[in-house]
Amino acid sequence: MRRPLTVGKVVLENVVKRYGNVEVVKDLNLTINQGEFLTLLGPSGCGKTTTLMMIAGFEFPSAGRIRIDGADVTDKPPFLRNVNTVFQNYALFPHMKVADNVAFGLRTRRTPKSEIPERVRHALSLVQMEEYGGRWPRQLSGGQQQRVALARALVLQPEVLLLDEPLGALDLKLRKEMQVELKHLHRKLGTTFLFVTHDQEEALTMSDRIVVMNGGRIEQIGPSAEIYDRPKTRFVAEFIGETNMLKARVLERNGSGTLVEAAGVRLPLLGAAVPPGDRVLLSVRPERVRVTTDPSQQAVLARVTDRIYVGSGVKIIANAPDGTTLTASGMPGTPLADCMPGEPVRLTWDAEAVVPLPEAGEGAA
Ligand SMILES: Nc1ncnc2c1ncn2[C@@H]1O[C@H](COP(=O)(O)OP(=O)(O)OP(=O)(O)O)[C@@H](O)[C@H]1O
Ligand SMILES: [Mg+2]
Repeated sequence: MRRPLTVGKVVLENVVKRYGNVEVVKDLNLTINQGEFLTLLGPSGCGKTTTLMMIAGFEFPSAGRIRIDGADVTDKPPFLRNVNTVFQNYALFPHMKVADNVAFGLRTRRTPKSEIPERVRHALSLVQMEEYGGRWPRQLSGGQQQRVALARALVLQPEVLLLDEPLGALDLKLRKEMQVELKHLHRKLGTTFLFVTHDQEEALTMSDRIVVMNGGRIEQIGPSAEIYDRPKTRFVAEFIGETNMLKARVLERNGSGTLVEAAGVRLPLLGAAVPPGDRVLLSVRPERVRVTTDPSQQAVLARVTDRIYVGSGVKIIANAPDGTTLTASGMPGTPLADCMPGEPVRLTWDAEAVVPLPEAGEGAA
């Protein structure tokens, strides 16, 4: 059967960005689908803003092409792209009232005067700021200013909205509220969202797919759950959430799987997804580690060094005889939550909780 030809909403082909002789974006290939909520996630300086600015047209690639709706826009200025940006520092014009801030883009694009008030009202209503058109920016809270910045971008009805850490300046509670509002807006408008954050939890909760970047390169692209449960590199496993990293030695490999030794115990690895070589890293999330009292179960005998109350549950840190440190988290009322520092504990996990990773962190498992 012939597959339909799909054209991405935004496509980056072998995009490189150099400043002087430093490559800050390295051979980036990325397709953003129509209507998708895609997040660029990565540490400070990994090239997120630079990538966004190239899509917006405020920076130009040193090499490679950028297509929007199939058309090559690589050399086109920002106003010839149907893309709008909410910048990392979202400053509103301080000398303009809220409604004028939102109307600004319409005026510069010579929108008929009679249309402007209704479009401004509609954009402000989308972010629940209809009542605030007559205020000065300084009379608004940080979260309200942020919403006006969003309205200023939405009023132009872009097909692609680029959001560079739009919630970075907000306190945790407001940030969570705005996350919900943004998701709601995304569903309602059907606009393609390209969102940037260095907050992994924010990325996991908001995105259809996440692009994990590191040093100007893409480490992994996938749906949130896949990025969290099946990281392909050590960098991704450690950057997204907390994880236990165990050094393991491959003992035996046969048709049905692999037997390895880690933290002094023998463990089966499911499937054949073990990178070549005698050594492999195993990533196991703390919430997958359990305390067992069943002597017949394979387990790591460790000693609890710390017990940390984290509100929703308890986290324990324990040392295995070979020096491996393991972190386990559990809900109140589970055997894990009752473990006290100094006590011995037997820790176990299901074979499917283990993600094998290449030791050097290069390539895919
Ligand atoms: N105009 C410029 N001239 C020279 N180097 C630059 C320029 N803009 C960015 N860089 C460098 O490019 C790299 C990527 O910067 P970028 O702003 O894209 O990072 P980022 O991922 O957005 O980081 P953050 O999370 O801190 O915002 C950084 O090392 C930065 O110093
Ligand atoms: Mg940035």
